[in-house]
Amino acid sequence: MKNMLYKEFNAKFKKEPENAFFSPGRVNLIGEHIDYNGGLVMPCAITFGTYLLVSPNDDNLFRFRSLNFEDKLDITLQSNYVKTGDSWFNYPLGVIEYFLKDGHQLRGIDMLFYGDIPIGSGLSSSASIEIVTAFALNELLGAGYSKLDLVKLSKSVENNFIGVNCGIMDQFAVAFGEKNKALMLNCDTLDYQAVDSNLGEYILAIINTNKPRKLAESKYNERVQECQAALTILKQELDIKYLCDIDTATFNKHSHLITDKVLFKRAQHVIEENDRVKLAAAALSNNDLAEFGRLMYASHDSLRDLYEVSGKELDTIIEYSKTNANVAGARMTGAGFGGCAIALVKEAAFDSFSKNVIEYYTDMMGYAPSVYSSLIGDGVGELSKVGSLQ
Ligand code: GLA
Repeated sequence: MKNMLYKEFNAKFKKEPENAFFSPGRVNLIGEHIDYNGGLVMPCAITFGTYLLVSPNDDNLFRFRSLNFEDKLDITLQSNYVKTGDSWFNYPLGVIEYFLKDGHQLRGIDMLFYGDIPIGSGLSSSASIEIVTAFALNELLGAGYSKLDLVKLSKSVENNFIGVNCGIMDQFAVAFGEKNKALMLNCDTLDYQAVDSNLGEYILAIINTNKPRKLAESKYNERVQECQAALTILKQELDIKYLCDIDTATFNKHSHLITDKVLFKRAQHVIEENDRVKLAAAALSNNDLAEFGRLMYASHDSLRDLYEVSGKELDTIIEYSKTNANVAGARMTGAGFGGCAIALVKEAAFDSFSKNVIEYYTDMMGYAPSVYSSLIGDGVGELSKVGSLQ
């Protein structure tokens, strides 16, 4: 991989790259639509991700190239940038804008990106490209940011430059991921624990619906607003900052305040899902994968019925999984509206699971999903230092 990328860099810029970086994508095991509500999430980094090769230039130009997209951009060094169209290069451009806003002196840089995360699959290709750019600029310029600073900066890019009101989970997971660990992150305090993800005889399967995710961003922002509206109502009786500041029992005592049926369902999902993460963490540390799987199914049902971010594609995958005795649990992962599902599948039965879920889904939907078995990988780093990629 590294040789191929070096060759491509050479072909595009007629020189050697000075350095190369990698940032993974992520899956979230449980705790969905929780991060912007100040609760607990449990994501992990995967081994698919975004590669970035860089070399400074003396032309005062940022040159963005990608091996995934035809669009490219050459843009002179200026004092600020705004989003231009919907092209991929807005992500690195947004990161540059935020370095400038913080008062850093920049110089021209040639950049070549390559990603092997299926685009639009809900595996966080956008957080991955933001974090790999921020990490590379930090190294190149000696800007002195901590990893957590880079996470916060990249989230600001997504919120204010790209216009998606996402929480911090994705940027955090791709930056801090650790091989064979799930991150148990408190999205309010940003305290986290890297938990051994001992899956025993099971492996993690990722099933991509291959559904184009139109409108996902506007529906996502709509859910964020609905949670804020529910929170404002609950604040009439409760001194809280986030929905996740209360548990299900407390919610039940005050839920009469929310008379709007939709807002009620949104709040109920968030608060119960946050409680499920606590149970899931206990199940994982007791190696109780049957219980972990049950919680995954419960999470999916809630995302389908209460939060309404699933869809027939994701539901079809979960429906099939429930019929297969070699699956401990399955759920949609990420924002939803298409994208990917994950399933805990017995390793020995992975091939037959894969074949059968493809058949079942294709019968129902008329086109095939893609199925991968995933390892849990490391977070962002220099390419030569990322173990699995040398
Ligand atoms: C997207 C967002 C995250 C998170 C998930 C849902 O991936 O980027 O911040 O809200 O959806 O859990």
